[in-house]
Amino acid sequence: MKHCGEKLGQHLLGIAGLSKEQIAYYLDTAETFLEVGTRSVKKVPTLRGKTIVNMFLEDSTRTRTSFEIAGKRLSADTVNISSKGSSMNKGETLIDTAVTLQCMQPDAVVMRHASSGSPHLLASYLTDTAIINAGDGLHEHPTQALLDALTVRKALGRLNDLVVTFVGDAYRSRVFRSDKILLETLGSKVRLIAPPTIAKNEFKDLGVEVFFDMESGLKGSDVVVSLRMKHEYLNDCFVPSLSEYSRRFCITENLLAKYCPDCIVLAPGPFVRGTEISSEVIDGNRSFYTDQVAHGVAVRMAVLYLHTIGKEVSYEV
Ligand code: CP
Repeated sequence: MKHCGEKLGQHLLGIAGLSKEQIAYYLDTAETFLEVGTRSVKKVPTLRGKTIVNMFLEDSTRTRTSFEIAGKRLSADTVNISSKGSSMNKGETLIDTAVTLQCMQPDAVVMRHASSGSPHLLASYLTDTAIINAGDGLHEHPTQALLDALTVRKALGRLNDLVVTFVGDAYRSRVFRSDKILLETLGSKVRLIAPPTIAKNEFKDLGVEVFFDMESGLKGSDVVVSLRMKHEYLNDCFVPSLSEYSRRFCITENLLAKYCPDCIVLAPGPFVRGTEISSEVIDGNRSFYTDQVAHGVAVRMAVLYLHTIGKEVSYEV
């Protein structure tokens, strides 16, 4: 396994602040773990004796399951906590819950939370444990960005000099934020196609190329990423109705074939067929949705490894 010139931090709270080399180190390590998923016995002893707490205080299918599978494939002991069934339902605070968990000496706590900054708060209290952000509110989703990057790198052979076009609700998307930071760090260009109520001026100020129609935004795209309308965050009505949105912004095979015929499509999920993306696209040849899910396990194995036992190995310059 290659060593990174720059040490990784104790925690993985976001993509912001990671260097090109650190991102490549996560991806290279994940590639080495992909093979474990192809074995008949999908288990290696790497994290035997380590304890990982998966604390999912907001709904999740992909991230929660893949972190648990990743921990088990590495032979770690994994424990799952959700808000339902924990003493947080009796009024215990997040901090008191976390400090209680720390007394049981976990090596890593993986946390998803609806409030932006929650894992950062936890990291300031749990000094002996690695905190892994599994998606915090409207802020970041670093492991999703890493698995998206691994998927693009494996499909197209590079992560630089690409035009990556996001379609949909970037305003409420932590995936968009983490993906954007990663792609720009590695030298690719980020576009956004969305209604003006979503693609606000802040996006232009952040260097995103903004389009209000599919035709001009899709032209020249190497990768198209579908973003879900996130009704669960903020109560704002960004579009008159979802059917109106879908008439103008649903990703269809006709549009892709016409404006970016060679592009690949990512859908971080969950997605709603027929609203953000058509079934023809999601089930078609240019879709890498299932690869994303599979790569999610390897990326999370890499993150758990690098932030627990990996920190005990020496890093070469
Ligand atoms: N992409 C993603 O984070 O999916 P889940 O909410 O199902 O974990």
